[in-house]
Amino acid sequence: MIQDDFVDSFGRGISYLRISVTDRCNLRCCYCIPPGGFPFTCRTDILSYEEILRLSECFVDLGIDKIRLTGGEPLARRNLSSLVNALSQIPGIKDLSLSTNGIFLADQAEDLFEAGLKRINISLDTFSSAKFRQIAGWDVHHRVVTGIEKAIQVGFHPVKINAVIMKEINDDEIESFVAFAMEHPVEVRFIELMPTHNSFVAKKKYFVSNDWVKNEIAKWAVLLPEPRLPGDVSEVYRPAHGVGKIGFISSISHPFCSECNRIRLRVDGTLKLCLHGEETFDLRTPLRGGKSKAELVQLIREAAQLKPKGHQFTGSVEDEAVAYMCQVGG
Ligand code: 5AD
Ligand code: SF4
Repeated sequence: MIQDDFVDSFGRGISYLRISVTDRCNLRCCYCIPPGGFPFTCRTDILSYEEILRLSECFVDLGIDKIRLTGGEPLARRNLSSLVNALSQIPGIKDLSLSTNGIFLADQAEDLFEAGLKRINISLDTFSSAKFRQIAGWDVHHRVVTGIEKAIQVGFHPVKINAVIMKEINDDEIESFVAFAMEHPVEVRFIELMPTHNSFVAKKKYFVSNDWVKNEIAKWAVLLPEPRLPGDVSEVYRPAHGVGKIGFISSISHPFCSECNRIRLRVDGTLKLCLHGEETFDLRTPLRGGKSKAELVQLIREAAQLKPKGHQFTGSVEDEAVAYMCQVGG
């Protein structure tokens, strides 16, 4: 039975679940993975697809109607389309999407689409091979662009491109991103760099605010505002010319915590109530301990009350311990 009171202690309705299906990744993005790496979750602690499905059914019973699969790199987990297929058949899920770095996308786009996935977000921070290597460890820029083109061709809609702009790294490429959005039916979203681990991003010198990005664009393009969709964290515009859209996700300069409707399930079955908070709840133990669906639903409802009011980015060493993006999927 679907319930309609999945609300946290601050009155925010929870309707969006992000599920990390793996913490492994074939890239090493500087803002995501700490230089020394991090300990991968051991195989036995990773939820199986059956376990993810069982928990998803509980979340949907509580009122979750939007699920996004993330990683690490989700397409690095074997046979992801079988999980997509099973999730897409759960009545109550209105929106099923995926965030990927795009490397395996050209190969898998068709299967994923046929399995029931309709929306996809692809990371792309630069159009330069040298910079791709600098940002992500090796250069697969052409594979990502091929993946994006394949996703469009297969019929994904919308296709969103996530670009994290960093000072003196890729802040000279804003025009190229806008041009890409004008030429392709995609939404390019400028995402503010979040201080998620001490060694790279806490160095504030890399941060670029979206207000600065908007001012840059205003020098040579006209952006027309689009209506804001409920629950959408992105401020969306349409360039006066061209086919695509431009979005701004300004989680640092204009935090949207008061409207946050999301929770995250980590690869090991830990419920993470806020991307940057310490508040977590172990669901794997009760799941494997044979709790009934009704008991799991009740546990999740109680766990949601741990969701904090908002994030407090300090860029301190402690942040490193609570929020490797590769473990919680951004
Ligand atoms: N700051 C901003 N965005 C990030 N992502 C990952 N780490 C960070 C960070 N520190 C986002 C990027 C990436 C997606 C997987 O998560 O947009 O493309
Ligand atoms: Fe991999 Fe995405 Fe992290 Fe980059 S941001 S290392 S692609 S999980």
